[in-house]
Amino acid sequence: MRIVFIGPPGAGKGTQCQRLVELLGIPQLSTGDMLREVQSNESALGRWIGRHLDAGELAPDHLVMRILAQRLEDDECRDGCLLDGVPRTVVQAHLLDEYFQPKGYGIDLVFDLQVPRELLVERLLKRAEIEHRSDDQLETIQARLKVFETLTAPLLEYYRRRRLLCTIDGNSTPEEVFAQIRDAIRHYDQGQAGSF
Ligand code: AP5
Ligand code: MG
Repeated sequence: MRIVFIGPPGAGKGTQCQRLVELLGIPQLSTGDMLREVQSNESALGRWIGRHLDAGELAPDHLVMRILAQRLEDDECRDGCLLDGVPRTVVQAHLLDEYFQPKGYGIDLVFDLQVPRELLVERLLKRAEIEHRSDDQLETIQARLKVFETLTAPLLEYYRRRRLLCTIDGNSTPEEVFAQIRDAIRHYDQGQAGSF
């Protein structure tokens, strides 16, 4: 299965993907993690990517897709993967469709994690105290939220039209959110895709 997680910063994409890795036995591919790994290299590319991340801006679509495609070629992705935070623009969604098309498969499900904005900020500021992610500061969080609204939210309509979208109420405990996701996957497995 190939499942996409869409949601604003702090929605719980990473948290839920980690849980699903165990349940489904397929890897989590987070483009945020991949880009932070590139950033940590002392290279010109790493520094350039780092400037995007620290400003809360998206990295360029084609670069992201090139990095992601390399991972998708890994053997561990043969039976599927959890796409955590990618695609994040309509252009990326098209590039991903183009990548999958010759392989004869595509995205099976798209989860849209919905959480009120105030709660997102609260979660990320709390995480900042523990993890020190360079983009978890109020100003950058606000920039990331704006990027989500302008560049990523239009993707929801793209997947809704293709009947892949499943909306999840992310405003509850991680366990309750996971239960919704697990039920939706069961529903899909029973051949009822498109009825969300
Ligand atoms: P990325 O690393 O993907 O960050 P993000 O989208 O801003 O989201 P976060 O990782 O902050 O939140 P999350 O939804 O994963 O929530 P989490 O589970 O961690 O991307 C970083 C940057 O990389 C982007 O800004 C961009 O620059 C670049 N980038 C990445 N992908 C890109 C792409 N495709 N194209 C271009 N650029 C790209 O949870 C957050 C916190 O809340 C945690 O502390 C967690 O413990 C807590 N929490 C989670 N769920 C709950 C719950 N139910 N109740 C209470 N607390 C909860
Ligand atoms: Mg994350």
